[in-house]
Amino acid sequence: MNALDTAVAAAHDAGAVLLQHAHQPLRIREKGRRADLVTEADRASERAIVERLRRDFPSAAILGEEGGEYVAVAGAAANERERWIIDPLDGTTNYAHGYPLFCVSIAYERDAEIVAGVVYAPMMDELFTAQRGAGARRNGERIVTSAISSIAEAMLVTGFKPYDYETNAPYFAKASNHAQAVRRDGSAALDLAYTAMGRFDAFWEFDLAPWDTAAGALLVREAGGIVSTLDASAFVPGARSILASNGRIHDQMRELLASVDAV
Ligand code: IPD
Ligand code: CA
Ligand code: CA
Repeated sequence: MNALDTAVAAAHDAGAVLLQHAHQPLRIREKGRRADLVTEADRASERAIVERLRRDFPSAAILGEEGGEYVAVAGAAANERERWIIDPLDGTTNYAHGYPLFCVSIAYERDAEIVAGVVYAPMMDELFTAQRGAGARRNGERIVTSAISSIAEAMLVTGFKPYDYETNAPYFAKASNHAQAVRRDGSAALDLAYTAMGRFDAFWEFDLAPWDTAAGALLVREAGGIVSTLDASAFVPGARSILASNGRIHDQMRELLASVDAV
């Protein structure tokens, strides 16, 4: 089984779990900070993914949002070279409110490099896949980033935690004053997948976790876009900020966001 096939199968398993729970009354909890939600669906989805990954790749490490670091399955030596990075439900708040923009994100890392990534949005049945050096796809069809070359033509997207609004508001305002539209959709992994296929022209956010971006960043790069941090250094999952774009407006976006008077 190759990593992409396993990731696709695991994403479908998890998507089915999420749809099943979506029709039941949810027990929603705050994880620690205000409005940082977790439902039993997040955990059930992660269990389904981990079960599949362990079966197909018994010695790979797994970093999952709800379980933290998993050790490899008993009996198999933990493999330092291979790791799965998973968000079993990205967009939990959307999910909890019945808003269909949520997804499963699964990335496969080998020798510290992401080589396969899957983002699956079960409500829309949209499956985004990428393999390093082999391009990105939506439901099997090749996708590329948008062709626009100025922010004035762009639809942008960002994200932030509700308790970080004050810090993010000046960036949102600056972008709104220059673009055609700025959205805040509530799922970083989907924001990246949509940037990869050209629905959005650029995405930025601060303080994301590795599981929010590991698969989506590969999608954008494989679709011909650029991914960096906001100060233009190399992006790795877990970096303090992310700026992903169609490539053509990357420098403009970086300059625009750098001109914000941060609070
Ligand atoms: C969140 C979403 C959201 C982003 C937050 C993330 P979760 O992930 O990706 O778009 O703004 O920073 O924490 O909690 O729904 O998995
Ligand atoms: Ca997430
Ligand atoms: Ca999550």
